[in-house]
Amino acid sequence: MMEENILDERALESDTFEANIRPQSLAEYVGQEEITSNLSVFIEASKIRNESLDHVLLYGPPGLGKTTLAHIIANELGVNIKTASGPSLEKSGDLAAVLSTLEPGDVLFIDEIHRMPKFIEEILYPAMEDFELDLVINSDGKSRSLKIDLPPFTLVGATTRAGDISSPLRDRFGIVSKLQYYSEEELLRIVKRTSRVLEMPIEEDAARLIAKRCRKTPRIANRLFKRIRDFALVGGYEVVTLELAEKSLERLKVDEFGLDAIDLEYLNSLITKFNGGPVGVETIATSIGEEVSTIEDVVEPFLLQEGFIKRTPRGRVAEEKAYEHLKIAHMGTLF
Ligand SMILES: Nc1ncnc2c1ncn2[C@@H]1O[C@H](COP(=O)(O)OP(=O)(O)OP(=O)(O)O)[C@@H](O)[C@H]1O
Ligand SMILES: [Mg+2]
Repeated sequence: MMEENILDERALESDTFEANIRPQSLAEYVGQEEITSNLSVFIEASKIRNESLDHVLLYGPPGLGKTTLAHIIANELGVNIKTASGPSLEKSGDLAAVLSTLEPGDVLFIDEIHRMPKFIEEILYPAMEDFELDLVINSDGKSRSLKIDLPPFTLVGATTRAGDISSPLRDRFGIVSKLQYYSEEELLRIVKRTSRVLEMPIEEDAARLIAKRCRKTPRIANRLFKRIRDFALVGGYEVVTLELAEKSLERLKVDEFGLDAIDLEYLNSLITKFNGGPVGVETIATSIGEEVSTIEDVVEPFLLQEGFIKRTPRGRVAEEKAYEHLKIAHMGTLF
């Protein structure tokens, strides 16, 4: 894709922008009430017992607040957070290096934990269970094993694909939480909060429009707000009005369901090239020139959730809603 895609959750964001609008405490974190109310109890209990919090696994689609929550857990516990990502842990030494920096009670955050190599995962098991690191050292052609005691720590793992996590790893997390898509009211609160933090006022109906068109995802709500703020700045607006928000979203090619160019290309391909399916995800990905992982992790979760497509054992199938949305006749029906 040549053009910038406003809804691509993977596009890089500047750190300062993220840091400013990222909530820092459970009280500031909007929504996911079941998760946050339970977590606050577990955090308090661990503090009373003076023990490290049980390991936490957070999963769900991109941009719903997993990384944010990991930092909040560390803040609420009053400990340091050390971060790593699954693919960056290539050698046992990489894991040993991060583990050796931990102080008692610290949080170790491993993002994309489903992409951690299998043998690293196996080194992690005793670290999680007994706070012990078993390393095999090779020197002078001889190998010997080394046991290192670790301080008690909390592993917070995040993944967009819970299904790709082996059950032995999953079983070692005491707290497993699935993040849900946000409601319109919650997104409205997030947009208003971002408007305050970035000091760009927004009218109620304009904020609601963003809340409706952000694929139920806080990261996208914030990104849309940021872009509309650019239009406001250049257009000489001091407040984001409904009219400005509408025009901006049109220019950003975000439609009334929040679908963007890739989503529409996906649906269009599924319907016109593959007769509405069933068709394999690899085939669709090739036909629109996208990575399978982007399709599976970023594009499909929302289309599935909103009933545009469904997953069957034989492949993806377009639902009536997709035909209606694209205004394409389905089985002889004309819209
Ligand atoms: N509950 C929330 N309340 C307010 N803002 C939120 C909330 N959740 C997420 N955000 C905002 O959305 C942005 C994206 O969240 P975050 O980076 O935590 O998502 P993620 O689930 O880790 O995504 P990925 O799977 O791509 O790593 C954050 O910078 C934050 O500003
Ligand atoms: Mg993240």
